[in-house]
Amino acid sequence: MSKQNQSRLSLSLGLVFFISLLLLSMEVRSFEPGVIEGYTGYDAAKVGSATCTMCHSDQVPESLLTHVSLIDNNPGNEEYGYGCEGCHGPGGNHNGDPAGILNPSKLSSEIITDICSRCHSDLNSFNTDEWVVSEHYFADVSCTDCHSGHTDNQWFLVNSDRLELCYTCHAEKRSEFSMRSHHPVNEGQVGCDSCHNVHSGTYEGQLIKDGDELCFTCHIDKQGPFAYDHPVSMAAGGDGCQTCHFAHGSNSDDLLRLPQRLCLQCHTDRGPSTHFAGTCWSAGCHVEIHGSNTDPLFFN
Ligand code: HEC
Ligand code: HEC
Ligand code: HEC
Ligand code: HEC
Ligand code: HEC
Ligand code: HEC
Ligand code: HEC
Ligand code: HEC
Ligand code: HEC
Repeated sequence: MSKQNQSRLSLSLGLVFFISLLLLSMEVRSFEPGVIEGYTGYDAAKVGSATCTMCHSDQVPESLLTHVSLIDNNPGNEEYGYGCEGCHGPGGNHNGDPAGILNPSKLSSEIITDICSRCHSDLNSFNTDEWVVSEHYFADVSCTDCHSGHTDNQWFLVNSDRLELCYTCHAEKRSEFSMRSHHPVNEGQVGCDSCHNVHSGTYEGQLIKDGDELCFTCHIDKQGPFAYDHPVSMAAGGDGCQTCHFAHGSNSDDLLRLPQRLCLQCHTDRGPSTHFAGTCWSAGCHVEIHGSNTDPLFFN
């Protein structure tokens, strides 16, 4: 290899190295100079959790189940002994000076995402790529609106009652799940997380699955195909379950959107006068409304 080629090779290797450094640092923007105004800790040395708790004795973890304990008590962990600095950044320039340490309560959602994602880019229901396209992220809700740095409950939530955590911000959902017909969320049979992943914008509405696929995970008997499909359901190429049902709650039976005129929205030629007392489905006629294997009119 000629000298020139050799230097070209080392030049391009250098470039690759530089780009990888750039990519690495892009993942951890919060620890780069200039990103957080006035912050002096980005190039500091680490001091270790034991040093932090010398001054912050009130932050000595109360149990082995706190976040910092999970890091500091596991010799297999990369940041073993340096758990505090995993979230607060290296403490060498701090010594009581607030400019030398990160305080998540003062940081933007974007930067907190960087901090947490250093260790969690993909853990079960959490994935950073799905998070940054979620409605929560777009609305500037941050990890620390739901997760605390210092609690020891499961998932380190700011409110260990997960349902109450959601109702705090989504107060109108409390009344939806109190309606006459509702998915049994308050009864503990299903949770918000049975249908939603609060970390993921993969599907609209932060749902765990798209459209009717979501409903079929629990209501498999409605999936068909039936000998006689009602083409409203997505399985039959129609509009899907939510054409007729609300997902949360309804003051009509069976989560229905309309108590009476449900069918007439599409079957405009079928006035109530041509039919029996009750509704099309409750008068004893079209009872197999989701599809039938025996009758093209969905009779029983
Ligand atoms: C020498 C004592 C000392 C040590 C060691 C120390 N701190 Fe502090 N820390 C303080 C004092 C004092 C304050 C309050 C500063 C103020 O409010 O002006 C403080 C403030 C903080 C704050 C809040 C900063 C803000 O912007 O409000 C955090 C977070 C913090 N420390 C974390 C840590 C962590 C993590 C470590 C270990 C890496 C650590 N401290 C080590 C004395 C110390
Ligand atoms: C220095 C690394 C580190 C950082 C930074 C970090 N974590 Fe963790 N986290 C861990 C470790 C270690 C565990 C234990 C589970 C594991 O091994 O993955 C954990 C577990 C969790 C769990 C699961 C707990 C459970 O009960 O299943 C949640 C939720 C979590 N972290 C949220 C966060 C959030 C939010 C942030 C940012 C504020 C964050 N983490 C920052 C290391 C870290
Ligand atoms: C709107 C509230 C909310 C926000 C915002 C939020 N989380 Fe969570 N997170 C939860 C809840 C609730 C759970 C419990 C499991 C579940 O319901 O999916 C959880 C679970 C987790 C888990 C454990 C995953 C598992 O299935 O074991 C990790 C890791 C996690 N969150 C990290 C984060 C990080 C990092 C951020 C910010 C980038 C964040 N979360 C933002 C509410 C939230
Ligand atoms: C998983 C991330 C995480 C770890 C690990 C962690 N903290 Fe925190 N810390 C936070 C968050 C987030 C806050 C903001 C308040 C909250 O959510 O609890 C905070 C708040 C603080 C504060 C209070 C700042 C204020 O506003 O008054 C101090 C001091 C502090 N942490 C010190 C420590 C020390 C010391 C350790 C190690 C023993 C530690 N932290 C470990 C995430 C973490
Ligand atoms: C700190 C406040 C806060 C908490 C806590 C919170 N959310 Fe949200 N959530 C929001 C905001 C703000 C939005 C975006 C605006 C909107 O659509 O309401 C949102 C959006 C959503 C959406 C998508 C709405 C859409 O229009 O597509 C769902 C689903 C959701 N949240 C579910 C949950 C669940 C489940 C929990 C409990 C684990 C939860 N949220 C906890 C504030 C919060
Ligand atoms: C049986 C499944 C299911 C359960 C359980 C569920 N949701 Fe939903 N949710 C949905 C569907 C489906 C949508 C409609 C999504 C879309 O198309 O925008 C939705 C929409 C939402 C929206 C945005 C639109 C709106 O109606 O405001 C929010 C916010 C929301 N859900 C919060 C919650 C909360 C909080 C809980 C728990 C208390 C919960 N959901 C439980 C299925 C469910
Ligand atoms: C996580 C499981 C789960 C998912 C997903 C789910 N459901 Fe349900 N659904 C239930 C449970 C549990 C009940 C209560 C059954 C009972 O009481 O026998 C129920 C009841 C219903 C009812 C009857 C309500 C009543 O008042 O009797 C309807 C209608 C319904 N679901 C429609 C849907 C639709 C539409 C979807 C999709 C948007 C859906 N479900 C998704 C679990 C689920
Ligand atoms: C054309 C309107 C319509 C569509 C579309 C529809 N439903 Fe229904 N659904 C009804 C009516 C009417 C009832 C009440 C009569 C009955 O019990 O069959 C009902 C009842 C239910 C019930 C409670 C009673 C039972 O049979 O278990 C569930 C669960 C349900 N639907 C799920 C679904 C799912 C899942 C889908 C999407 C595949 C869907 N529905 C699509 C009209 C509809
Ligand atoms: C979103 C529109 C829509 C709604 C709402 C709807 N249907 Fe249908 N239904 C259709 C379509 C499309 C067909 C396919 C036949 C056609 O083209 O008319 C069909 C077919 C039928 C058939 C088979 C006989 C026929 O006309 O081909 C019956 C019976 C029926 N629907 C009853 C009902 C009943 C009862 C309800 C209320 C519970 C209902 N439908 C609600 C769209 C709808």
